[in-house]
Amino acid sequence: MNANTLPPGLKNADLMARRAAALPRGVGQAHALFAARAKNAEVWDVEGRRFIDFVAGIAVVNTGHGHPQVIAAAQAQIPQFSHTCFQVVAYDGYVRLAERLNALAPGDAPKKTFFVSTGAEAVENAIKIARAHTGRPGVIAFNGGFHGRTLLALGLTGKVDPYKLGVGPFPAEIFHAPFPDALHGVSVDDAIAGIEMLFKTDIEPKRVAAFIVEPVQGEGGYLPAPKAFLERLRALADKHGILLIADEIQTGAARTGKMFAIEHSGVAPDLITMAKGLGGGFPIAAVIGRADVMDGLAPGGLGSTYAGSPMACAAALAVLDVIEAEGLCERAIEIGAHMQRRLRELAAHQRCIGDVRGLGAMVAVEFFHDGDAKRPAADLARAVIAEAHRRGLLLLSCGSYGNVLRLMVPLTIEQTILDEGLDILAASLDAVVAHA
Ligand SMILES: Cc1ncc(COP(=O)(O)O)c(C=O)c1O
Repeated sequence: MNANTLPPGLKNADLMARRAAALPRGVGQAHALFAARAKNAEVWDVEGRRFIDFVAGIAVVNTGHGHPQVIAAAQAQIPQFSHTCFQVVAYDGYVRLAERLNALAPGDAPKKTFFVSTGAEAVENAIKIARAHTGRPGVIAFNGGFHGRTLLALGLTGKVDPYKLGVGPFPAEIFHAPFPDALHGVSVDDAIAGIEMLFKTDIEPKRVAAFIVEPVQGEGGYLPAPKAFLERLRALADKHGILLIADEIQTGAARTGKMFAIEHSGVAPDLITMAKGLGGGFPIAAVIGRADVMDGLAPGGLGSTYAGSPMACAAALAVLDVIEAEGLCERAIEIGAHMQRRLRELAAHQRCIGDVRGLGAMVAVEFFHDGDAKRPAADLARAVIAEAHRRGLLLLSCGSYGNVLRLMVPLTIEQTILDEGLDILAASLDAVVAHA
């Protein structure tokens, strides 16, 4: 249903009530809004109210809502065929997309790629591939990491509330090590020592198939992994014959100023998971990896009915074209630098801002009570989000303590709208602090 066919007089509150009656409460919702239409970095709700979108469907529409090239590519595919199941009758768009990603992925080794539909599915498959290649069961993930909501992905996820509550047990042979977070007292040395400790207390390295790491933790607080950490993880992996999986589901597709965030470190992973920004709003996820590793499973071991849908492949090819033609990697760097500059100006007179950080256009503001890192201020983050909503700006929180605002604007955002959104954010924070 689009804005032209919506019944008149629809109200968010009525739809929220119907939603509550019809859906399980486990399907959360950050904003009590129902969308009518969206264009680039703006969303209009069913009541006709306009919002600036600093969430981008959780870092999905990196190319903006409804990029004409992406929409045209998907539309052109539909009348040709919308489904054959690639494993039954193949199509060229899938292969072309795999070739493009193989060429873009970091590292000199030849690559292979295949597609699934969601991030969690990509993670599950990356682990299967790593286990099949190494013949080992163990996987080491990191505290605060997020890898999805299916049971294996959830086992890898390093945050209990709300994701893991009441749904265990989780698959065996998964272990968590500390993720470096200087602000909360975890150095790179501590993080590496944590892995060495796992090797003593839980699993010997020769039974570990893979490390899985987000180059910038997303849900965990928009925490960039220090270059030294990724280098030492690579060295540990090489020493023990362990594979390194970069979960680029949130960080990929130009979000951080490179096609893949791990490129900033110069480290080449063995496997990469990618989703979100790749499809520009169409559901597609990829596992990209060293060809020798990717071929570990027998024919039939990979795939699913809808995996790599023809429309999503067409859209993703257009997304890659748009990233290149519109210089979105460069734009992500500019956007991130501009946002951090504006946020630091705010921090100069707001003690509650304990940190401003980011990599490219993955930008975070972390709140503390009285600037004390031992007192994370989730209440403040919640209040700022609510106030900004009232003023027409969509924001989202993250972090192990829920006290971080994560800003992930479309990389195609107009400068005036970016500044209008930042003005609303500043005014919202002023209003919240004034009434605290
Ligand atoms: C780093 C990371 N991995 C995996 C996932 C899971 O992706 P999906 O929600 O598409 O299953 C997410 C989703 O937020 C993510 O950010």
